[in-house]
Amino acid sequence: MLDQQPPSLIDNFGRRVDYLRISVTDRCDFRCVYCMAEEMTFLPRSQILSLEEIELIASAFVSLGVKKIRITGGEPLVRGGILSLLETIRQLEGLDELVMTTNGSQLVNYAQGLRQAGVSRLNISIDSLQADKFNAITRVGKLDKVLQGIESARRAGFKRIKLNAVIQKGQNDDEILDLVDYCLERELDITFIEEMPLGQVSDHSRSEQYCSSDEVRAAVEARYPLIPTTETSMGPSRYYRLANSPIRLGFISPHSHNFCDQCNRVRLTAEGRLLLCLGNEHSVDLRAILRRHPGQLEPLREAIIQSMHLKPERHEFELDGEQQILRFMNMTGG
Ligand code: GTP
Ligand code: 5AD
Ligand code: SF4
Repeated sequence: MLDQQPPSLIDNFGRRVDYLRISVTDRCDFRCVYCMAEEMTFLPRSQILSLEEIELIASAFVSLGVKKIRITGGEPLVRGGILSLLETIRQLEGLDELVMTTNGSQLVNYAQGLRQAGVSRLNISIDSLQADKFNAITRVGKLDKVLQGIESARRAGFKRIKLNAVIQKGQNDDEILDLVDYCLERELDITFIEEMPLGQVSDHSRSEQYCSSDEVRAAVEARYPLIPTTETSMGPSRYYRLANSPIRLGFISPHSHNFCDQCNRVRLTAEGRLLLCLGNEHSVDLRAILRRHPGQLEPLREAIIQSMHLKPERHEFELDGEQQILRFMNMTGG
């Protein structure tokens, strides 16, 4: 009898890859200080994947056992045609979950459409609840728009919305409890993230502003007892529950807690590079394969299967080391 199971992607360390993160654009309407330089040159149109190319790559991955796709950017909602791309991906047979990470700036206009297109969950980045500070961190962002966007997402019926906050000393570490209270009032989950050394930043020192997850957790626990849970997205987040509330608190701690042995994900950059690890440069140029064999699934599938041998065992983040990774987060969507 023929084996009906789709082939699965297993790397050299026995980890199964069933989660793909797709960055649909390197562009963004914000310029967050830890993510981008103030003056950015974005990729020309011809270098980024077309929507059809993204669809084909997504379908190759799903045929190889990928169950979850997260759409990221830059800011994914600035990509033209995003809703129709989402609708097409959502219909891929075998895909369990289509989710998105956004900065929230356009959700007022898009929340409803995202629900209709079949996006099941949203992660929304917000580092401050103070308008001037929010504007300083994002360089150009307007807090009001994002807060309205969060409300639009709730009204559109999204459940388990998760906020992401990168905490930096002297910047927003005084807002940890405010962010938790904001989430408690609205039944939102929240993840606190340690800044990662991706791309060269000029306007702050990553090591001086480093705020460990342990410090953040201590700040939360000064007011709210945290209950560890075993819940996992098979990813970097360690989750806790807040006593007497439905919300979950996560910590992503690439510096203080290594999670690479559980890694289940790979990333597709806007220009079609398949990155096997966020903290390394190992990659395969899927765009070149696609453009050599337009519209063909098989060469892509073959390249993806082979790429598993390249997936490194762990990331190599150092706050001040020589090994600074010269790729900004907007290329990979986090
Ligand atoms: P799920 O795992 O899908 O629930 O979401 P997530 O929290 O991983 O995704 P999100 O897009 O909200 O990203 C939050 C933060 O996690 C970002 O700062 C990402 O860079 C970081 N992150 C996601 N995956 C990895 C990873 O494999 N390694 C590291 N170091 N960081 C990651
Ligand atoms: N370190 C940690 N998180 C980052 N993000 C962007 N750049 C960095 C970085 N250098 C976060 C954003 C967003 C998520 C996709 O990645 O704040 O929440
Ligand atoms: Fe844009 Fe997100 Fe980068 Fe901020 S962190 S500049 S919102 S891609």
